[in-house]
Amino acid sequence: MAVSQTNLAWATLLDVGPPDHGRRLHDRLAHALRTTIRGGRLAEGAAVPPSRALAEELGISRWVVTEAYGQLVAEGYLSARVGSATRVSWTPDTSPGTAPPRPHTPRAPAVPPIRYDLAPGLPDLRAFPRRRWADAVRAVTGSAVHYDLGLPHPAGHAVPRTTVAQYLRRSRGADAHAASVFVCAGVTDGLVRTCRALRAEGIADLAVEDPGWGRLRDAATSAGLRVHPVPVDHDGLRVDDLARTPARTVVVGAAHQFPTGTVLSPARRAQLVRWAREVDGFVIEDDYDAEFRYDHHPVAVMQGMDPSRVFLLSSVSKTLSPALGLGWLVAPAAMTPALRAANPVAAAPPVLDQLALATFIDRGWYDAHLRAARRRFRSRRDVLVRTLGAQVPQGRVAGTAAGLHILLHLPNDTDTSATVRAAATNGLQLNDLDDYRTKPSTERALVLGYGNISDTEIPPAVALLREALRSTAPRSRPHADQ
Ligand SMILES: Cc1ncc(COP(=O)(O)O)c(C=O)c1O
Repeated sequence: MAVSQTNLAWATLLDVGPPDHGRRLHDRLAHALRTTIRGGRLAEGAAVPPSRALAEELGISRWVVTEAYGQLVAEGYLSARVGSATRVSWTPDTSPGTAPPRPHTPRAPAVPPIRYDLAPGLPDLRAFPRRRWADAVRAVTGSAVHYDLGLPHPAGHAVPRTTVAQYLRRSRGADAHAASVFVCAGVTDGLVRTCRALRAEGIADLAVEDPGWGRLRDAATSAGLRVHPVPVDHDGLRVDDLARTPARTVVVGAAHQFPTGTVLSPARRAQLVRWAREVDGFVIEDDYDAEFRYDHHPVAVMQGMDPSRVFLLSSVSKTLSPALGLGWLVAPAAMTPALRAANPVAAAPPVLDQLALATFIDRGWYDAHLRAARRRFRSRRDVLVRTLGAQVPQGRVAGTAAGLHILLHLPNDTDTSATVRAAATNGLQLNDLDDYRTKPSTERALVLGYGNISDTEIPPAVALLREALRSTAPRSRPHADQ
C-alpha cells in the first residue's frame, strides 16, 4: 500500500543492501528509493525525510543522502522546493496492460540551471591548457614505439612513472622513485587500490577525517574496509582521537584538509608518524590540491618523513581537469607487491594519456600552467574574500591560505541547509559544511569553491548568497544585516 506520511521506519523501507564492491553508497540509496517509489510504496506527494534525519536514521553521512535525493530529483521521482519538504513527484501506472512505469516529466524545472558555481570541486575548466595538451597528445601519438601500444602495464608506463617520481621529488619533497609510483585514475582510484591491498594484509579498519570528502569514505567502504571518522581541529586531524579507534591506517589531507582548509601542524605530523609506527600501520596522504598555496611556501608532503609508513595520493583533477582521469599513488616499498596482487585486473589509464602527461610535465608546460593558475586563483581568492567581507559581514572566512575553496563560518542560528537550497533556486551552487560531516554539529559554515567561477562573476554570486542568507534568516533576527 502506498503511504503518504513520513513517520515511517525508513531503515526498513529502504533496503540499501550490504556493501557492494564498486557501487557507491549514494547510488545504492538512490536505487533503494527509486525501487520503493516505483513499487508504489510511497504515494505521489509523500514527503521524504529531511536529509539530516534520514542520514541519522540510516547511520550514513548526510552527503550520501543529498547526493541520492539530487539524483532522484534530476530523474523526476522527487521534487524539491525551497522552504518545503522534498516530495515524491511520480506515481506508478497500475492499470492493466500498461507498459512498465516510467517517471513523468516534473511539472516545474526541479533543478534550475547553474548560473554561478561556488561549489568546491572543480578547477578553472575555462583555463584548461587545450593547445598544449593537444600538442602533448599529438607528440606522443607520433613518437610512441609500437611496443607501447600493446597491453598496458597495470602499474603504469615506465616513462610517466619516472616523470611523476621526479616531479614529486622536486615540487613536493616526496621520496618517490619509478618503482614506488603507480599511475592510476586519480585519488579515488588510488585509494580503492590501496584499501584492497590493506585488506589483503589484514587491515580492516580505516580512519578518515570528519568533516571530510564523502567519496573517500565510499571508496574505502567499497573496498571492504570499516570506516572510523576522526575529528579535525585548527591543527588538523586529532591524533589523540585517532589512537582511540581500532584503525591502523588513516587518510589525511595534511597540506590542506578538505573541507576545513587546515594544515596539519608540524607537531601533529610528527605525532601521526609516531602513531603509524606504534600501531604498525600506515598514513594515506591525500595531496589533492597542494600545488595551490598562496601566502607561504608550499608545505612538503608528509610522505618524505617516513616513506615506509606513508602512501601519497594525488591527481590532476584540481590542477588540470578531473575529466582526464589521471593521478598517481606512491606506495611504501614493502606494500608494492600487495598493491599489485590485490588489484589483479585494475587497469592503468590509457597509455597515450599517461605518455601525454609525462610529455606535458617534461616540457615544463605543467609548471608553467601551475604558475599561471596560482596567480589567477590567488587574485580570485582575494576578490572573493573582499566581496564576502563587504556583503556578508556576519560571516568569518577561514582556510584561505591554499587550495580552491574557503570556509565561511556563520552565526549558529543560520539555517545553512535552507540557504544552500534558496541559493540553488537562483542558480547559485554552494555547499553546506554539514554535508561533509558524519554527525550534525552546531557549527554553521558554507564551503565556497572559487575554482570554476570567473572574477567578474564573484560579485553577483555573492549578492545571491547574501539574498539567500537574508531570505532564510531566523525570524528572531529580522534586522540582521543580510
Ligand atoms: C578531498 C579531495 N581529495 C581528492 C580529490 C581528487 O579526487 P580524484 O583524483 O579522484 O578526482 C578531490 C576532488 O575534488 C577532493 O576534494
